[in-house]
This record gives sequence, C-alpha cells and structure tokens, in this order.
Amino acid sequence: MEDKLQQIQKSYQNKIASSKTLKELDEIFIALFGKNGEIDQQSSQFSTLPKDELKIVGPFFNQVKQKLEKAIDNRRQAIREETYNDLENETFDINEGEIKKRTGHIHPLTATDHNNFEVLNIPENHPARDLWDTLYINSELKTPNSKLLLRTHTSNSQIRALKNNKPPIRLMNIGRCFRYEQVDSRHEHTFEQFEIIYVDKGVSMANLQFLSEYFLKNIFGEDIKARLKPKYYPFVEPGVGVDGLCIFCKGAGCKVCGGIGWLELAGAGMIHPNVLKNGGIDPSIYSGIAWGFGPARMAMIKYGIEDIRLFNSGDLKFAEKF
Ligand code: DAH
Repeated sequence: MEDKLQQIQKSYQNKIASSKTLKELDEIFIALFGKNGEIDQQSSQFSTLPKDELKIVGPFFNQVKQKLEKAIDNRRQAIREETYNDLENETFDINEGEIKKRTGHIHPLTATDHNNFEVLNIPENHPARDLWDTLYINSELKTPNSKLLLRTHTSNSQIRALKNNKPPIRLMNIGRCFRYEQVDSRHEHTFEQFEIIYVDKGVSMANLQFLSEYFLKNIFGEDIKARLKPKYYPFVEPGVGVDGLCIFCKGAGCKVCGGIGWLELAGAGMIHPNVLKNGGIDPSIYSGIAWGFGPARMAMIKYGIEDIRLFNSGDLKFAEKF
C-alpha cells in the first residue's frame, strides 16, 4: 500500500504542478479527496490491513494526504497571482478612447422678475404673485425695474418666444424651476417644467382640448383621456387645469388620484391678450394656447415613483432603475 500511496503522490504532484486554471485544480481535488477519490479508496482498505502494517501505513497516508492538500493550496495561490499579473499587464491608455468634446455654458438658472411675472400679466404687488412661492435674490445686479429671482415656472420663456418669433409659433421649452416650497413627497423646491406654446390665426380651446389628449396619449398610451377644468392663471384667459384620466383606476377613483379618477398634469389656457401684446403680437389677429407641464409628476405616474424627492437625491440605486 505504501507503494501505491507513493505512486499517487508522484502522479498527482505532477498534475498539480502542470495545472493552469483553478477549474483544473478543482477537478484534481475532487479526483483525490472526493467521495471514491484516490485517497478515499486507500483509506477504505485500512480495515483489511494487519495492525502492524497499519501503524506504519497510517502516518504515511496522513503525510501524503497533507502534502497533496498543501500542494493544491500552493498551486491555487500561484494561479491566482498569475491571473492578477495578467490583469496588471493589460493596461490601456484612457486617453486613447474617444471622448466627445463638449462646450459648457452657464445654466440659465436665473430669470428676472420682469419675464417671470410682469409681462405675464402679473404686476408687482398683485396678489396673484402669491400663487408662486418665489425665491428672490439679493443682488447688485438688479435693474431698476426688475428684481432677480429664481424662476418659478417656465412660463417666463413665453415672452421671449413671442418677441423673437413671428406667428405661426410652435415651441416647446424645458427648464429648471425653483420654489420656496414646503418639501414633501409631492413637492420639491427644485424641479423641471416644460412649456408648450402655439400661436397662430384662429387657434382655439378646441385645439387645446385635442392637443392635450394627443400629447398625453403619446406618453401614457391610447387609453388616456384628457379633460379641461377651469383654473385661474393670470397669463391665460380662459385658464384651465389639464387632467389625465387616472391610469391606475381608469377613472374609478383610487389612492393615487385621491378618489377623483383624474390627475392634474398641466396648467394651460388661451394666452392672455396682454401677454401677446407684451410679446409684440397683435391679439386682434392672432390667438395662442400654452401649457406648463411638470415632467417629474408625469414620470412619477408613468413609472410608479412615490416620492418626488428621489429624483434629486443623487441615489444611484434609484437612478439605475431607469
Ligand atoms: N406656469 C404655470 C405654473 O407653473 C403653469 C401654466 C399654466 C403654464 C397655464 C402655462 C399656462 O403655459 O398657460 O403653475
């Protein structure tokens, strides 16, 4: 039996030394130490040996077993190190990759009081200003007629759009807005809005109804319906809230829509004649419609996100879900 053990030791030490991968080593380990492996087969013969011989074979058997175990451990470590070395040699020059050049620009965070309120038919000291909890900025930059503020909505873009273009005007504009909000799961101090403007001859509430539904169908699917309900905004007349049929309960009323069956998704209306005039457009010839949507609100509904604060949380676990 000693001969047999010696033979096993020799042949397996060679196999271990010439193994190249951890997988090969695992196979060797099983062939040796697994059930019915070489070692198992030898120890199962102990009961047939005379006691004297067992006294000699026993310790030798243990020695061979330990040596082979150690040889496997050492080789395993060596293979790991070789793999790490290979990885280290696999260097690449990060500068070789092509990175698109981008030119940065200043974020249009601030707008003036003038565009945010004044020309949108909301004069100074008018109580309608209270509809927006505004963050004003103490700054040397303010001009005599206009205070600096963080814009509360994207409607301030309307006036630029009207001044810089001739009808027909069809325009969409997205941007970041800020409000002095009591933050909770549905209100953020920093959020996006997009503004849609359509000015031409003969534009009417019928266009507003049709286009609202057309737009919502493209985002939420064919089943959604839009309804307009009266709502006050100083820069539109008439002003409306655009509701979408609740996509969760299809109008039956549920927790998400507060039992109403509809969810308010936008403010909108016919652009007020004073705003058109402020933008240099004659309201006796042209009329216009405008919407202000909150993309966070829409994403919350579309993806079932319960807390608006997650959007700006910087939490990768959240961001990577999309
Ligand atoms: N700017 C409004 C808000 O943030 C939303 C809004 C209402 C936008 C009516 C519009 C509009 O363009 O016509 O509350």
